[in-house]
Amino acid sequence: MSKNKFIAFGNVFDESVHRALFKLSSQGYFEEMASPISIGKESNVFTVTSHAGPRCVKIYRTSANFKKMYDYMKADPRYAGIKGTKLSVIYAWAKKEFRNLHRAKEKGVSAPLPYAVYKNVLIMEYFDAPLLLNKAPKKPKEFYERLISEIIKLFQAGLVHSDISEYNILNDKEKPILIDFSHALDLRYPNVQRLLMRDVHNVVVYFNKFGLGLDEKKEFERIWIHKK
Ligand SMILES: Nc1ncnc2c1ncn2[C@@H]1O[C@H](COP(=O)(O)OP(=O)(O)OP(=O)(O)O)[C@@H](O)[C@H]1O
Ligand SMILES: [Mg+2]
Repeated sequence: MSKNKFIAFGNVFDESVHRALFKLSSQGYFEEMASPISIGKESNVFTVTSHAGPRCVKIYRTSANFKKMYDYMKADPRYAGIKGTKLSVIYAWAKKEFRNLHRAKEKGVSAPLPYAVYKNVLIMEYFDAPLLLNKAPKKPKEFYERLISEIIKLFQAGLVHSDISEYNILNDKEKPILIDFSHALDLRYPNVQRLLMRDVHNVVVYFNKFGLGLDEKKEFERIWIHKK
């Protein structure tokens, strides 16, 4: 990555992020920073170039609310022993998104393929597609059925997304792509039923605006029935 590009994006990157980006680009995961997609409270997302085409880099802010992350994470059996210091929590959070994406992809869920994670930087597949929020489905019923089958696949992979809404679903030529897996939890998490209900609630409210007449309880059962 050239020095100019570092400087162009310099205001959002601290020294440690610079070093992490430099390491990942020298390992071949990407070539140049391209453009910002989203500058958020908890993370900044950019496109990057690579020999294999555009990719996506998500950088968790070290100013993120790590106490909330910590409380959330330590109830997940996979992270029961996590240390509560700020950087270790944020790095673990990034790794958690990487692992969740990896697990989802193994079961064929439509989601970005993760390539690498190092410190608070995650590199994944980029989809040139708008959020569902910004592009309503042409055929809501079909889109909804595809979405439910993705949620079921994810559930069968042992995960509940826990932050599903039109803000975390891309509309890729009328096919749903799930993104933002940092909250996704293992099915052994104590509150998993409530979190799945919330996901179902969000999607049902969104799709009922198109007159689908979906019943939350029934839709929840369609997923929960797959619990082993
Ligand atoms: N793999 C991807 N391909 C294309 N766009 C993406 C991808 N990942 C994220 N984005 C875009 O970046 C935005 C933010 O990403 P994401 O939802 O993962 O982070 P976030 O935690 O919600 O960010 P914050 O809460 O800080 O706003 C998304 O709304 C989407 O527009
Ligand atoms: Mg999001």
